Amino acid sequence: MSKNVLITAGASGIGKAMAEAFEKNGDSIWIVDSDREAIEKCSNNWNKSILDVRDEKSILKLFEEIKLKWKGVDVLCANAGIKGPTSLIENISLEEWKDCLDINLDGVFLFSKLVAPIMKKQRSGSIIITSSTAGIFGFSHRSPYVTSKWGVIGLMKSLAIELGSYDIRVNAICPGSVEGERLEKVVEAEIASKRMTREEIYNAYTAGTSMKKLIKAEDIANMALFLSGHGSRLVSGQVIAVDGHTEVPDPKV
Ligand SMILES: NC(=O)c1ccc[n+]([C@@H]2O[C@H](COP(=O)([O-])OP(=O)(O)OC[C@H]3O[C@@H](n4cnc5c(N)ncnc54)[C@H](O)[C@@H]3O)[C@@H](O)[C@H]2O)c1
Repeated sequence: MSKNVLITAGASGIGKAMAEAFEKNGDSIWIVDSDREAIEKCSNNWNKSILDVRDEKSILKLFEEIKLKWKGVDVLCANAGIKGPTSLIENISLEEWKDCLDINLDGVFLFSKLVAPIMKKQRSGSIIITSSTAGIFGFSHRSPYVTSKWGVIGLMKSLAIELGSYDIRVNAICPGSVEGERLEKVVEAEIASKRMTREEIYNAYTAGTSMKKLIKAEDIANMALFLSGHGSRLVSGQVIAVDGHTEVPDPKV
C-alpha cells in the first residue's frame, strides 16, 4: 500500500536518495529543505516546502498543509543535520556549538513532536532518524556533531518507548562515510585542521571498517525503505549502522 513519506533535508544527499527510493516504491513524497535552489531542482511529483528545521512557526504551518493534503503521515525521515565545526574544543565558539545542536537536535525534536499525534491517531507509523557512526563512537575535532548524533539516539530510544503501544516504530540509521559533496567538504576541513593529505584522510575513513568501502546514499535509502515496511514490523528502538562495519573508528585521524 502506498505510504505518505515526509523527509527533512530531502533536496540533496541522503534525503534526496530516500525520496527517490520511496517514490520508486510507489509512495507519496513530501520533502522539506532550507535550500531553495536545491529544492527547485527536485522532482515536481513531490510536495516540496522550503523551511529551516529550527523554525517552529514554519513547521506548524507545514503540518497544517500536510493535514489538509494528506490523510496521515506513515513515515517521517528526520534526516536534516549539518557537520558542524571541525576543530579542537578550545577553538569552537559557543555559537558554532549551538548552531550544530540546534539544527541536528531541534529539527528532529520538532518534526517528531508534530508527527507523533498524527501517527498516534492512525495507530501506525515509522519514524526514521538519521544519526551517524558519530552517534556510536567518539571522533576527535567533531565534538558538537558527535554530541548531537548521540543526542538523537537518546530521543529515538525514548520515543520508541512512548509510541510503541500505538504500533509506531522509531529507529535510527547510522551511516558511515557517504560518498559525495558533503564528505568532500568534511575532508577539505580536515585537510586544513589536521595537516593531512586528501588521500590519507579518505584512506582513514575506510581503514577502520571491515569492508573497506565508502557508503552510497542509496545504501541508506534502502535501509529506510526496509524500516518503513512490513518486513520490519517488530523492529523498534534500534540503532542500525550502515557503515561496512566500523571496527575502530577514525584510526589514524
Ligand atoms: N554524508 C555522510 O557521510 C553522513 C554520514 C553520517 C551521517 N550523515 C547524516 O545524514 C544526514 C544527511 O546528510 P547528507 O550527507 O545527505 O547532507 P547534505 O549536506 O548532502 O544535505 C543536507 C541537506 O540538508 C539541508 N539543510 C541543512 N540545514 C538545514 C536546515 N537547517 N533546515 C532544513 N534543511 C537543511 C541542506 O540544504 C541540504 O539539502 C545528516 O543528518 C548527516 O549528519 C551523513
